[in-house]
Amino acid sequence: MRTRKIKKWRLADCNNITDLRDLAKRNLPWPVFNYLDGGADDEISLARNTEAFNDYELLPTQLSDVSSIDMSTTVLGQNIDWPVFLAPTGASRLFHHESEQAVVRAAHKFGTIYSLSTLGTTTIEDVAAISTGPKMYQVYIFKDRSITRDFVERCKQHKYAALCLTVDTPIAGNRERDLVTEFGWPPKLNVRSALSYAWHFPWTIRAVLKPGFDLVNVTSSAAASREINEGVMAFVNSQFDRSISWKDVEWLASQWDGPLVVKGIQTVGDARKAVAAGATAVMLSNHGGRQLETAPAPVDCIAPIADALGDQLEIICDGGIRRGTHVIKALALGATACSIGRGYLFGLAAGGQRGVERALTLLRAEVERGMALLGCNSVQKLAAGYVRVRR
Ligand SMILES: Cc1cc2nc3c(=O)[nH]c(=O)nc-3n(C[C@H](O)[C@H](O)[C@H](O)COP(=O)(O)O)c2cc1C
Repeated sequence: MRTRKIKKWRLADCNNITDLRDLAKRNLPWPVFNYLDGGADDEISLARNTEAFNDYELLPTQLSDVSSIDMSTTVLGQNIDWPVFLAPTGASRLFHHESEQAVVRAAHKFGTIYSLSTLGTTTIEDVAAISTGPKMYQVYIFKDRSITRDFVERCKQHKYAALCLTVDTPIAGNRERDLVTEFGWPPKLNVRSALSYAWHFPWTIRAVLKPGFDLVNVTSSAAASREINEGVMAFVNSQFDRSISWKDVEWLASQWDGPLVVKGIQTVGDARKAVAAGATAVMLSNHGGRQLETAPAPVDCIAPIADALGDQLEIICDGGIRRGTHVIKALALGATACSIGRGYLFGLAAGGQRGVERALTLLRAEVERGMALLGCNSVQKLAAGYVRVRR
């Protein structure tokens, strides 16, 4: 049963990711919540990412021994305690003053990988300093290649386990909620946003007294830092190289010795090119419905890519995951692991590190419960026989 009618004032009242979203909405100023929650254009991909999981049914095998469930798996060369990790998301400090630090601590407490975004508000070095587990860094290819090369060197130096190249962002998607709210930093105020910033005064006071919203990993570049001041979208549009091709992926692979993930893949053809260019994994992703509108839901991309290339690369399903059964379906269809974005960001906005931990506790429990009810005692045993397309 959905518990949305019950007011969510505390983390303990939240029984699922949707409840955490409600609490995040309550905690954040209107423009900030909509930046987190929103997608591109009419938000068709955003909605489909989650809805598409309902097109699949789980097929239980009863009376299997499920007295213990092995949730552990290996992805990107890392053994993780359960098959979900945290996708890269920019500017976490916007959502809670504990910022990326809260997320990295929670991820490692839950035995999984944290991914730091190039557009994060904590440096590569600061994440490394507090990190006790595996971490991945997400890069873009900048017009000025020395910025990208510098990231690679810093990641090597600070023992990042994997590098992730996001390829679905040649330019920023059309986020119309942000146009309505006039989201930006410093905020452009309209009547509704001014009232909302005033109403959420704890958030606003902190933001004014201790902003810290700089995209600290790129501010070392003078050109980049000037653009950041004009807003993230302007920065994306001015600094990311729209002319990049698979040759640049080869170039990046040659700079990096470890696992390389290409994020934003949706077709077998592109997955094949990723393997040829030196990638070890693909993240099937449409950027959480924030970039190309009507791009397919990641869950629908798994089976064709797993059938064609499952023995040549790892497949990460990224987008729309709000329930443990979503994870189980993705793995049964052929994904190696799943990653979540908003799932943990709602938790962050709901209550900082404790909120992220609540999100991970709930999702992890759902995966474990789902496995027991499915009659499958190891996530590594999940296979096509456990899932079918709904008739
Ligand atoms: C607020 C927000 C910021 C994001 N920032 C980045 C980013 O900096 N780099 C990136 O590759 N993806 C970014 N993403 C996309 C996520 O990595 C991930 O693909 C997406 O959130 C998955 O969908 P989900 O939110 O439904 O789990 C962002 C997503 C959100 C919601």
